[in-house]
Amino acid sequence: MVRREKVAVVGLGYVGIPLATLLADRGYDVIGVDVDSKRVADVNDGTLPLKGVEPDLPEMLGDAVRRGRLRATTSFEEVGGARSVFVCVDTPIDADMRPSNARLVSAARQIGENMSRGALVVVESTLAPGTMLGTVAPIIEDASGLRLGKGFKLAHCPERVMPGRLLHNLTTYDRVIGALDDESAERAIATYSKITKGELHRTDLTTAEIVKTAENAYRDVQIAFANEISFICEKLGADAFEVRRLVNTCPFRDMHVPGAGVGGHCLPKDPWLLVFGGRKARPVLIPTARMINDGMPFHVAKLAFDALRELKVRRPSAVVAVLGASFLENSGDVRNSPTKALLQCLEGVKEIRIHDPYLEDIEGVKIEHRVAEVLKGADIAIFMVAHKEYLKLTPATLKKHMRRQGVVDGRNIFSKAKMRKAGFVYRGIGKGVS
Ligand SMILES: NC(=O)c1ccc[n+]([C@@H]2O[C@H](COP(=O)([O-])OP(=O)(O)OC[C@H]3O[C@@H](n4cnc5c(N)ncnc54)[C@H](O)[C@@H]3O)[C@@H](O)[C@H]2O)c1
Repeated sequence: MVRREKVAVVGLGYVGIPLATLLADRGYDVIGVDVDSKRVADVNDGTLPLKGVEPDLPEMLGDAVRRGRLRATTSFEEVGGARSVFVCVDTPIDADMRPSNARLVSAARQIGENMSRGALVVVESTLAPGTMLGTVAPIIEDASGLRLGKGFKLAHCPERVMPGRLLHNLTTYDRVIGALDDESAERAIATYSKITKGELHRTDLTTAEIVKTAENAYRDVQIAFANEISFICEKLGADAFEVRRLVNTCPFRDMHVPGAGVGGHCLPKDPWLLVFGGRKARPVLIPTARMINDGMPFHVAKLAFDALRELKVRRPSAVVAVLGASFLENSGDVRNSPTKALLQCLEGVKEIRIHDPYLEDIEGVKIEHRVAEVLKGADIAIFMVAHKEYLKLTPATLKKHMRRQGVVDGRNIFSKAKMRKAGFVYRGIGKGVS
């Protein structure tokens, strides 16, 4: 019998679970390590502990566990014997927008204390540039007593997945592999070439850190630009989506869509990781874009209060339906959801009802799963996410349930003309009121 190579995946979340599952599927003997015992128990039961729809992942995870190729534990001792250790812990920012690396530091220390000589440590978590050589490497050296490069190898292969498409992204996207030296690169490439059909691009550790955070900062800046254009269009009575369509008829333009806010684990914090790593260069554009995007839920609330005024509904008597609580359409990922910020802005209305097909509650508020129940008797409906079931709604369906006809469209779901024709007071991001 051929002995399977043992690998460890530390951190079993949106990034670690699909990676561990795929590694098991590709023939490795995988041990998953997480500090969350509930998560570990779920994985050992073959149950996917992530919210939202993840095509093929539940089946593949169940299969990997049943065949004995994937096991989870809370004990770092089991990292011993692993030829490669993949680090997928969360890397948030603190209240001052600086990296909060406690989980990464703790994971690196415990990996160092338990790993075998010669192991390759690959960090998939997103990092402020400078973290691999400035934080991860010295901690592992200190905890293991091994010398970087001689006693263990090091690579940074930042993850690019999006919830809702985890397996698809993992198996098709190109990957950037920042490596300490030739052997680190060769070993990382040998493993990732079994996972993805995409190209593998080799570089150094710091460049890989900058690439990942720049990818997300670039997207954030582009969205902020679209949002700024939407403010201009709203003031001038134009439609930002038509402006975008026409801008993009010019070669080499790729204007993004404006929207009700930017959420998720990555986009709201990765630009700050880049700003921190690059603080000596005093970045200004990236922090400004962050502020514009963070302000969008407040702008949505302003549009809602405008609409209520036009409907002659006073704030203390307004019944507000909020549709969509996750940060992304057709996903149950609620991290940094713009809806959370919106709910704070809506304080002072009589009643807020929230609908989302994928979530049970948000900020302690129960979520309703039937659209009709949320709309029943509402004065205004605020669409924060373009979940597929909202795309089927018509002005007539909304009208049937609502007490008054107010709509705020944060995701360009409806036609302004059709809404107006049906008698709605309609406000939309990027839609002028003329
Ligand atoms: N979620 C995404 O779509 C996505 C995409 C690309 C990159 N990333 C990056 O990947 C990393 C992980 O993100 P995620 O979404 O999987 O996070 P997550 O919160 O879903 O999962 C992280 C897991 O790590 C565990 N953990 C925390 N500290 C630990 C420790 N010391 N030891 C062992 N386990 C520990 C947590 O219990 C949790 O289960 C982050 O750096 C993130 O920025 C995430």
